[in-house]
Amino acid sequence: MPGLDVAAIRARFPALAQTHDGQPMAFFDGPGGTQVPDTVIEAVVRYYRESNANHGGAFPTSERSDAIVHDAAAALADLLGVDGDELTLGPNMTTLTFHLSRSIVGSMRPGDEIVVSGLDHQANVDPWIAAARDNEVLVRTWEPELADCTLRLEGLDAVLNERTRLVALGWASNAVGTINPVAEVAKRAHAAGAWLFVDAVHAAPHLPLDARAVDADFVACSTYKFFGPHVGAVYGRREILASLPTYKVRPAEHRFETGTGNFEGYAGAAAAVEYIAGLGSAYGGARAGSTRRERIVAGMTAIRASELELYRHLAARLHAIRGVRLYGLTSEADLARRTPTAAITIEGVAPREAATMLGRKGIAVWDGDFYATGLIERLGLAPDGVIRIGLTHYNTRAEVDRLADELEAIATSGTSRPA
Ligand SMILES: Cc1ncc(COP(=O)(O)O)c(C=O)c1O
Repeated sequence: MPGLDVAAIRARFPALAQTHDGQPMAFFDGPGGTQVPDTVIEAVVRYYRESNANHGGAFPTSERSDAIVHDAAAALADLLGVDGDELTLGPNMTTLTFHLSRSIVGSMRPGDEIVVSGLDHQANVDPWIAAARDNEVLVRTWEPELADCTLRLEGLDAVLNERTRLVALGWASNAVGTINPVAEVAKRAHAAGAWLFVDAVHAAPHLPLDARAVDADFVACSTYKFFGPHVGAVYGRREILASLPTYKVRPAEHRFETGTGNFEGYAGAAAAVEYIAGLGSAYGGARAGSTRRERIVAGMTAIRASELELYRHLAARLHAIRGVRLYGLTSEADLARRTPTAAITIEGVAPREAATMLGRKGIAVWDGDFYATGLIERLGLAPDGVIRIGLTHYNTRAEVDRLADELEAIATSGTSRPA
């Protein structure tokens, strides 16, 4: 399989051409939201030029809006390996999870239990705690191993029992990059009679996903993390969705989508999925005549290979800097169990201070806890958190070297400071 042509890919992302104080911007902020390719921008603009209307009407722009909603659900379903009618579109993963959690937990009985993890983004923890409180349901926490920021299955066994009705789990950690054993968790959850709700927001930009293959009951994602607009989507297994109580306005057809949709965003979301499918054709070896799903898997496989190669280089550079500590799975042998998202601290330098110094040089990294608040607290790093370096397929080796050189300079200034 040929590698990605990163220069050609970068030319498709207009924002990557930005400069700051005469230096090119380098974007390592992908886990907070990626840049978008030309076709996504054009799809959003085209919506306003050609299709702008509410949906459900008997005139062409409204019919086009209806088609856009349908196409976005179909495209996102292909990304997750499911069917379009099992998708709920909405503003973002957090809002959709709060919304669905009311219905899911509303179907439980007092005394039932939910398992959440101490590794997850709070968006897959707090909605369950809130809904559980309203329904006299108990929440148990699956504690992570802090040495390598992983969730061990023995830890799940300790909190799972015959009263468990739901396990809420991240597919991958947005803070430290750990990929969780979702298929194994689904088996154990189902054996206990529980559903599995997977937060795939951090996994979706980095891994080919197949909700049916891992046997998840719900999978949530957000398109702004994989080259699309600020839109969220949740897959729910058809028969479970049909069985849930709903919180909806009477005549609305969709049982879980409320109010008027972000149609321009949905147009961009479908274009983001097409962009990934296009990578599958161009670089992933997808043959002519392949289905969109096959092309998406090929595209994500090509992205994964390219990102891991770059991450290997980043990790080697980070390991070589005195005063830098990398969290989570750090050995070469564990690369397959992580995304290319590095959480680091620098001895003697607060994460915000380091991020500010990098920002002044046109290098975008995030600092803080990124709403993985429970994990950062458990690691004893609250409230300052860590510096998060997120690689995507449009990053280059030269950018990584530039970042590492700056980090080296920052670390040297930190370690030379009086304590
Ligand atoms: C792993 C993970 N889950 C959930 C969210 C929340 O997503 P949204 O902004 O779509 O609500 C994020 C956003 O950073 C995330 O990284």
